Amino acid sequence: MTKRALITGASSGIGAALAKVLARRGWSVALLARRVDLLNEVVRDVGAAAGAFPCDVTDLSSVRDAVRNAESALGGPFDLAIANAGISVPTHSTKFNIDDAESMVRVNVLGMMYLFDAVVPGMVERRSGQFVGVASLAGLRGLPTSSVYSATKAAMQAFLESSRGELAPYGVRVTTVNPGFIATPMTEKNRFKMPFLMNVDKAALIIADGIERGARVVEFPRLMSALVRLTRFLPAVVYDFATAPYGRRKIDPPKVKR
Ligand SMILES: NC(=O)c1ccc[n+]([C@@H]2O[C@H](COP(=O)([O-])OP(=O)(O)OC[C@H]3O[C@@H](n4cnc5c(N)ncnc54)[C@H](OP(=O)(O)O)[C@@H]3O)[C@@H](O)[C@H]2O)c1
Repeated sequence: MTKRALITGASSGIGAALAKVLARRGWSVALLARRVDLLNEVVRDVGAAAGAFPCDVTDLSSVRDAVRNAESALGGPFDLAIANAGISVPTHSTKFNIDDAESMVRVNVLGMMYLFDAVVPGMVERRSGQFVGVASLAGLRGLPTSSVYSATKAAMQAFLESSRGELAPYGVRVTTVNPGFIATPMTEKNRFKMPFLMNVDKAALIIADGIERGARVVEFPRLMSALVRLTRFLPAVVYDFATAPYGRRKIDPPKVKR
């Protein structure tokens, strides 16, 4: 029987690439995002096994409606739900902008929890399913000029980790995905050299493989993951010294004007 997957943030980047991989592997996929024109382009590439559903993940009723519509269009509840929608706005504590911060928290953290709220109770009832959150290596330690983004990704990681243990007895799997730098519209605005920058199609294959084998954590590129994991053992004084130059990086003016 065809399995059904839902992906938020499927109009571009990782979400769109992942939708294509999963569809090629036989999944029916529901694509959620705000830009319906882009979603429809992805649906055209993916073929009959996909459907586009407009959704703003910062609006609980929009998420619930999109999930309900997608379930009826695809013929039943989802076996796999991927909270991938995310935004990243460079920040600096000397130019802190609460509106940018709030947007990131709403999309990255609440957006994931709204999807969780919409799909996980059904999975628990059915004693099967998988919930995936696309966090980031940036959540493993606070990065200069990414304080809010790092904080949202750390919040996702903690939430997913706690949920994993709670849901395991109910047959529901939880997977945390921690990518490094991936070439997508999100990173193309970066004005600094991104170490180990990976092609988005390669990233989507790694994520799909991890999801399908039921991995708890999918983290890549491997070397970048190992380096970031190593920094977690550095004492604060050494970490501060090593990252100080990045804190002096120039950042663009705030995206959200007050
Ligand atoms: N690229 C990287 O290097 C990298 C590294 C680690 C983690 N990640 C994470 O990977 C995920 C995907 O990022 P990406 O690089 O593929 O970025 P992207 O190309 O900019 O895609 C972001 C997606 O999120 C959707 N989105 C944003 N706000 C939304 C909202 N309010 N409601 C619904 N959808 C919304 C966008 O769709 P609409 O604008 O059409 O709504 C878009 O489809 C993010 O969570 C990001 O933090 C990326």
